Amino acid sequence: ETRPEQEHFERTIDRDQRIEPRDWMPDKYRATMIRQIAQHAHSEIIGMQPEGLWITRAPSLRRKAILLAKVQDEAGHGLYLYSAAETLGADRSDLTGKLISGRQKYSSIFNYPTLTFADVGVIGWLVDGAAICNQVPLCRSSYGPYARAMIRICKEESFHQRQGYELLMTLMRGTGAQREMVQDAVNRWWWPSLMMFGPPDADSTHTAQSMAWKIKRHTNDELRQRFVDMTVPQAAALGVTLPDPDLRWNAERGHHDFGEIDWSELKRVISGDGPCNAERIERRRKAHEDGAWVREAAAAYAAKHAHKEV
Ligand code: 3HC
Repeated sequence: ETRPEQEHFERTIDRDQRIEPRDWMPDKYRATMIRQIAQHAHSEIIGMQPEGLWITRAPSLRRKAILLAKVQDEAGHGLYLYSAAETLGADRSDLTGKLISGRQKYSSIFNYPTLTFADVGVIGWLVDGAAICNQVPLCRSSYGPYARAMIRICKEESFHQRQGYELLMTLMRGTGAQREMVQDAVNRWWWPSLMMFGPPDADSTHTAQSMAWKIKRHTNDELRQRFVDMTVPQAAALGVTLPDPDLRWNAERGHHDFGEIDWSELKRVISGDGPCNAERIERRRKAHEDGAWVREAAAAYAAKHAHKEV
């Protein structure tokens, strides 16, 4: 029969209340929360690379300052989320080791190249837009520290999306070549942005359990549909075409129908065979190695002063 702690855990979830670090939780709940939070953190940290490459090549000081602030925010989101994972007993350096050795994942979206500065705008608009669609419901996730981290992160993400859209509006008022740059970037980032939401519900390993434990509040397909419905009018206002001939409003459904996603591409990119996977991991490994002396110095200092009362 169910143990009293199990009953308390289930009652807490049923009442839409939060599970906190000191509460009893099923081992599988702890494991899947560490898995999702760690991979979310890895995504934020790896996500600094595609745009980071443009900080030294931004077209104006204003754009450089905005991009610097955004990339810095992503770093902060990563650190925030590693701290949330640590409340479950995970160890930050162990998680970094798992990322670098490919034993933990990060979002597929960051394995695509950023070919022109219009990519910075499209990442803000589509990638951060998709992240917002995914992260707003996570503010109501059943694990307390994760939900609270999301509230702060979502506030910053909305700045990320707005600056990207404003960048594209500016380019779209520019020359023909600049308008083409935007359309080219939209063509390259649209389908990978839809893949960010994960495999279709029918092929999702975790969705059913994550919905039962209210870790996820909507399924992958529901959030993907919400993102498409939100983005179509924004594309029209921008004056770009979304690269999907099957995309159309379906009055019966009250949603947009859209074309079939190439799931083999998502599988390939997740398994490490995307355009930039090796480069992203190599850069993360090198940064970790270059930073070893800082960690050692901090640890030596802490050890030397450990006996002094704080
Ligand atoms: N990229 C990489 N791996 C993916 C993926 C993607 N786009 N979509 C799914 N996967 C992986 C899952 O991690 C899982 O593998 P695992 O068991 O080894 O973890 C497997 O594919 C099956 O997918 P499921 O749908 O069953 O897995 P989940 O229930 O975990 O759903 C998810 C996947 C929707 C990404 C969910 O984990 C989630 O909502 N995570 C939190 C949000 C997040 O990580 N967002 C990253 C976006 S980038 C970002 O936020 C930065 C922003 O600042 C731009």
